[in-house]
Amino acid sequence: MGFPETRLRRLRRTEALRSLVRETALEPGDLVLPLFVDAGLEAPAPVESMPGVRRHPVTGAGEVARAAQKAGLGGVLLFGQARAKGPDAPDAVAEDAAVPEALRRMKDAAPSLALAADVCLCAYTDHGHCGVLGPQGVENDPSLALLARTAVNYAKAGADLVAPSDMMDGRVGAIRRALDGEGLHDTAILSYAAKYASAFYGPFREAQASAPRAGDRKGYQMDPGNVREALREIGLDLDEGADVVMVKPALAYLDVIRAARERFDVPIAAYSVSGEYSALKAAAERGWIDERAAVLESLLAMRRAGADLVVTYHALDAARWLG
Ligand code: PBG
Repeated sequence: MGFPETRLRRLRRTEALRSLVRETALEPGDLVLPLFVDAGLEAPAPVESMPGVRRHPVTGAGEVARAAQKAGLGGVLLFGQARAKGPDAPDAVAEDAAVPEALRRMKDAAPSLALAADVCLCAYTDHGHCGVLGPQGVENDPSLALLARTAVNYAKAGADLVAPSDMMDGRVGAIRRALDGEGLHDTAILSYAAKYASAFYGPFREAQASAPRAGDRKGYQMDPGNVREALREIGLDLDEGADVVMVKPALAYLDVIRAARERFDVPIAAYSVSGEYSALKAAAERGWIDERAAVLESLLAMRRAGADLVVTYHALDAARWLG
């Protein structure tokens, strides 16, 4: 039956009707807030390239976690600042580095929040690459042991999820074996499975001081033209033991999230990255878009594309707006 018997506007007349037939929900519990922690800070420091985002002193980690828990967020994702950088990423494996210290404080302060820790070497190496540098460039296999030790370090400090973002081949399996070898069977792996070599990471690299000193990340992060390859990456990470697989960035890769959703019956995460955040913030600051409406619409789109959870710097604001 078509028009005039069928009128799709009938169910759009009131918010009550729209709410009854809405297909996709967005809730604070679906959101994960990325957090930058720095042992060298005494007070929070603003990140110039990300209005509203701050780097937190380790001593303030408990307070931040309590706020996230109170807002009803599902979790936080931690990034640490190295005290000293070196070719073999000394602070990635140090038990008293920013991330493990912050994890211990957060676990005590906000026991019902899921704690995830980003596992990568780029913020800890002096060259700024995500793996170990050798004569052949970023060397895959020598990087695996170091990444696995980093993951064990964070798991021991209380991470519920370790989140490898380095894009080395085989790292999920190496991390799973290392965790199990230490009896850390309950620590889940949230793998950045399909992570693209994207221009949208620019503001983050300023926040983390993690831009590569020479070259780029195209030799390990994915080519933006590829979606079939993303499905291979995801399939391999699942075979190696990933519990949740992530697509990153989010807005420019909604088709990848959708394709992953259709192929795999596993939890899928979307990472709405720093450049997505800062672009909306900048437009809102100029009065060119309605920040609240644009942010909630974007996050809903990621859920609609098939993401179960969304990592976003807007998490606290969005939770407040969702009320
Ligand atoms: C570390 C890492 C990056 C991001 C998350 N983990 C930077 C990169 O790969 O260059 C980007 C996050 C963002 O832009 O918000 N490898």
